[in-house]
Parts: sequence; structure tokens; C-alpha cells
Amino acid sequence: MGIIEFKDLKKSFWSREGGKKKEVEAVNGISLSIDEGEVFGFLGPNGAGKTTTQRMLATLLPIDSGVATIAGFDVKKRPNEVREIIGYVGQMGGTDNFATGKENLILQGRLYKMDRDDIEKSAERLIELFDLKDIVDRLAKTYSGGQKRRLEVALGLIHDPRILFLDEPTAGLDPQNRANLWNHIKELKQRGMTVLLTTHYLDEADKLCDRIAIIDNGGIVAVGTPKELKDKIAGETIKIEVETDLDTGTVAELFRDEPYVRETRTDGKFVHLIVDEGATALPKIFEILKNENITAKSISMAKPTLDDVFLKMTGRSLRD
Ligand SMILES: Nc1ncnc2c1ncn2[C@@H]1O[C@H](COP(=O)(O)OP(=O)(O)O)[C@@H](O)[C@H]1O
Ligand SMILES: [Mg+2]
Repeated sequence: MGIIEFKDLKKSFWSREGGKKKEVEAVNGISLSIDEGEVFGFLGPNGAGKTTTQRMLATLLPIDSGVATIAGFDVKKRPNEVREIIGYVGQMGGTDNFATGKENLILQGRLYKMDRDDIEKSAERLIELFDLKDIVDRLAKTYSGGQKRRLEVALGLIHDPRILFLDEPTAGLDPQNRANLWNHIKELKQRGMTVLLTTHYLDEADKLCDRIAIIDNGGIVAVGTPKELKDKIAGETIKIEVETDLDTGTVAELFRDEPYVRETRTDGKFVHLIVDEGATALPKIFEILKNENITAKSISMAKPTLDDVFLKMTGRSLRD
């Protein structure tokens, strides 16, 4: 059994539009099992239902219908037990800007009714873990975006939860601070933490997550490891750029019957070969070109990306 499990989870909101009440189905019956120790990502565009799902699981929003359990506790019936097991870091964070980092940590510990010694020990550990030593005595309002985000994640961990929810953890951070926070999250994983994060960044889902659920319009459209998802997109593409006096159709013909070539296409001066695995196909392709005395101007290999997966599943690109 997964440490986070849910089945047919639903949530609707009523919004008012020009005086008329309108129902918005934010989450439309999703089911999933997440294992202890996984870094699991909800990947999807704005408005997909990622935050709503996370907030229902974190007991911050009532569940309309469906069942969710966290470490075996029913989220609807045992919210207090669930809150002790999880840490939640929202998209907007929850720091008091007019308190120091240390004061924020202590306040957070008090909210969890921890005793003074435990708070002190936990704060020391988190200050070390998140490299906050040099800034922890400054007011939070003086922190850079990356520093503030590190403090916010630390706040979510003060009571030493088994599961951490992170809503868009690196939104708005520059590449260096994003990479830094990814390393901190990887370190949490190494310590056995389960992390459920939301993101609309393809690279974040790809590099950081053990598994991903691609979410769109309140539903899960695909689940798997980044590799499994990308493997759904048949093969890899090898693009051969041929000399202008050569006919691409003739060159493509040379490869058509090779067992490792699934498909050939031509596009301007390029021959596209869709192959099962680029790395093993490339040497064979070089050999054929050599035997036929064809010099390629360029050869490149492209692996499918998570965006190709999103495009295939939804008909839209996540980049737009
Ligand atoms: N409190 C709310 N009232 C009305 N509609 C909401 C509320 N919260 C979210 N929604 C709507 O639910 C849908 C899912 O939102 P959300 O879960 O925030 O998506 P995401 O986090 O993937 O961007 C959106 O259409 C959003 O406008
Ligand atoms: Mg959101």
C-alpha cells in the first residue's frame, strides 16, 4: 500500500460570473498510489488542478467525494493524524517577513505544539540542512527569492514529517537557485522523505521526480517515471543533413529496410530516421553512409521530451 493513496478524488468550486453561479470542476475523479520515499511530481499547466489536489490531501480543503489515505489514515476522518505526518509548503509560502529566519522556525514549531528543546534541535538541524546559518538572524524580508524559499521549505519540516508537500517549489527562481533547491530536495529523499510536488516546469519534473502524473483539466492523463513516459513516444529521431546535390528520398531509401529503423521521413535537406534506440542505431547508420560514399553535413539525435508526451496526450504543448 502506498503512503499516499487516493481514489476517485473530486472537487468542484462555485464561481460567480455576471451574477450567474457556475460550477468549475477543478479535480474530476483522480486515483493514484504513491510509495514511501518517492519524489512524486504533478506536472501540468496553470489551472490543471494540481494545487487543489494537494490541498485536499493536506487536509486544507474539504474533499467533495472519493477517498484519500495518508500513511493509512483516512484524510477526511483523521485529519489531525494526517497533519502530524505531513509538512506543507504552499505556493505563496508562509513566512513572517518581520521576523528573523530563526524566529520563523520557532514560531512554526510552536504552532505544532512542540516543546522548546525539540524546536531548538529541529531548527538547528534545518539551518544546517538548508544552508541558512549566515542569514538566519536577519529579518526574512531581507532574503533573496532563493533564500526565502529555502526557509519556507525548512518551515514545512520543523515537526519532522514523513511526507512533504511542495507547491511549485521553484517558481520564479533563477536557474542557479532552482538547481540548489533541487539538491536540497534530493537530500531529503536520501534521508527517506516522501515528497509530493507540483510543477509546470518540464525540466523539474524530468530531473527531480522518480515518477510523474501529468495532469490536465482536473484529470490524470499519464503516470510513470520520466523515462517510461518518454518511452511512450516511439523511439528517437536521427536527423541526417545531406549535401545539396543529393536526393533525400534516395538516401532515405537506403535505410528503409534496416530492422532498427521504424520510419523514414524527409524534410528539406534532412532525412529523419525514427529508430528504437539512437545510441545503437548511430554506428550502423554511419557505416551505411560510409559504404555508399555519402558525406553528411550534420547528424543529430533527438530524444523525446516530456513536452512531446504532453503534446501526444493532450494535443497541446505545455510550453505555450
Ligand atoms: N477557491 C476557488 N474558487 C473557485 N475556483 C477555484 C478555486 N481554487 C481553484 N479554482 C479553480 O480550479 C481549477 C484548478 O485550480 P488549481 O488547482 O489552482 O490549478 P493548478 O494548481 O494546477 O494551477 C482552476 O480552474 C481554478 O480557477
Ligand atoms: Mg497551483
